[in-house]
Amino acid sequence: MKSLLSARFAPLVLSLAASCTWAQGVSHPPAPASAAERGRMIERGRYLVQVAGCNDCHTPGYGQDNGKVPEKLWLTGDVLGWRGPWGTTYPSNLRIYIGQMSEAQWLDVARHFEPRPPMPWFNVRAMSDTDLRAIYLYVVALGPAGSPAPAYVPPGQAPAGPFVQFPQ
Ligand code: HEC
Repeated sequence: MKSLLSARFAPLVLSLAASCTWAQGVSHPPAPASAAERGRMIERGRYLVQVAGCNDCHTPGYGQDNGKVPEKLWLTGDVLGWRGPWGTTYPSNLRIYIGQMSEAQWLDVARHFEPRPPMPWFNVRAMSDTDLRAIYLYVVALGPAGSPAPAYVPPGQAPAGPFVQFPQ
């Protein structure tokens, strides 16, 4: 997945770099106008992550603890697996995953990705560009933390750790 993504993004990054260099002398997409605007976007991203339910799966213990998980742990992924006909999936560490991308890459992923259940990718795809950018800026502002979630386990193989079982 990772190498597939980078192969897909390499041309995008190159073409962005090329088009922006002559247009503005920079190699990244335009940043929000001011620090105040950026602050508002980050706050909006925090709000969206909270109300759109990203923490429910991507933050360890969030549902069990009634949302009382320190913000420094938000979106660090979880070792609780979700097992069903698709195999066993683990909510990714978004602090690492999104934190490694440029904003343009994140927008492209959010518009095209289709991870396995129970990830509600269709909800992310339905978000406006502004909301997606707000989530990006928030995650980047939080900074990287934690370690990657356990690797996906194919159907028919038993996961090593705890998991939620969906009907087969
Ligand atoms: C019901 C649980 C659940 C919710 C709610 C949820 N996710 Fe996920 N998410 C997952 C799981 C599980 C995966 C891993 C899927 C897989 O392995 O194919 C995942 C994968 C992802 C990925 C892909 C990461 C990668 O490594 O490819 C992104 C990005 C993501 N989620 C973002 C979000 C955002 C943003 C929200 C909030 C709008 C959200 N998720 C809400 C469970 C959830």
